Amino acid sequence: MAIPVERTRSPKARPAEAELGFGKYFTDHMFRVDWAEGRGWHAPRVVPYGPISLDPAASALHYGQAIFEGLKAFRHPGGMRLFRPGAHLARLTRSAERLCIPPVDEALLLDGVKTLLRTDADWLPGGPGTSLYVRPVVFATEAFLGVRPAKAYTLLAFLSPVAGYFSGPPRPLRIWVERERARAARGGIGGAKAAANYVASLLAAEEAKARGFDQVLWLDGAEHRDLEEIGTMNVFAAIGGTVVTPSLEGTILAGVTRDSVLQVLRGWGVPVEERRIELDELATAHRAGRLAEVFGTGTASVVAPIGEVAWPGEALRLAAPGAESLGERLRAEISGIQRGERPDRLGWLEPV
Ligand SMILES: Cc1ncc(COP(=O)(O)O)c(C=O)c1O
Repeated sequence: MAIPVERTRSPKARPAEAELGFGKYFTDHMFRVDWAEGRGWHAPRVVPYGPISLDPAASALHYGQAIFEGLKAFRHPGGMRLFRPGAHLARLTRSAERLCIPPVDEALLLDGVKTLLRTDADWLPGGPGTSLYVRPVVFATEAFLGVRPAKAYTLLAFLSPVAGYFSGPPRPLRIWVERERARAARGGIGGAKAAANYVASLLAAEEAKARGFDQVLWLDGAEHRDLEEIGTMNVFAAIGGTVVTPSLEGTILAGVTRDSVLQVLRGWGVPVEERRIELDELATAHRAGRLAEVFGTGTASVVAPIGEVAWPGEALRLAAPGAESLGERLRAEISGIQRGERPDRLGWLEPV
């Protein structure tokens, strides 16, 4: 079924690429589909980008039934390409199930996103590191104050032209280990891309920034002992020739970049372990000179090197990674695949 497109009568001026940053500008159109009891997801359409009306009693505003995704489309010699949309949409389905939101048909959403990308194709920036970030968001719209899953939802997907996360070679990040607050608890919703997880992280992130750090390293919510994730990135450490990353036990997001990194490393024959990692293990490895690298992974930055991991009374400092470091090689490989400069052996690119 072709998705109808209602074109805007007032296209916006395009921002200069030097001004892009992340998530500041939005293109001319958005994809919308609604859910109602008895009708399911219906009336998919591309409409002009703009404010929506929402009842003050809409349950997403009160009880937080809201989930989202974040993926990117790249300029590629063969035309525009989405990076691993299937993995992102499958994760949206898992998030929906966890938050009692009716899952969106993944094929319909992919069709909607592609129609939107084709409609706003001339917004795709071309400079190094740039892309069109795709943000699908699903929220409960029913006007009802009882606490139960809502009976009406809206999905919007919209686009933001974004710059590379780093201008120039990435600056290693300074990370503050959060030892008191928790982002997620075992059995909770930490593994879903739920709006509520992000608000849970804000205060600690602000406190870390006030101390001069870039981001927070979260530990598990029960013992405050095992590594979980860094801000909106999964965390990896290279310890004595093996790359370790926290196992997925429901409290951290199953990053698509995390999975891509694991697949590339396995393909290179690098030993990798997904398991619990105690903060003490990092400190011990650092003292023994065995902690070679720590890096974060995510759609925004692909791979972000970590230069310091600190907590009260301790600071593990790491040498700036050279071009031969695993983190830099992974970043070059995955960004190279995204732009068509390296072969897409694993079929991660989806033509638009
Ligand atoms: C909390 C959190 N962890 C990890 C990630 C990395 O996930 P991905 O690689 O799919 O972008 C993100 C970003 O989406 C995130 O928000």
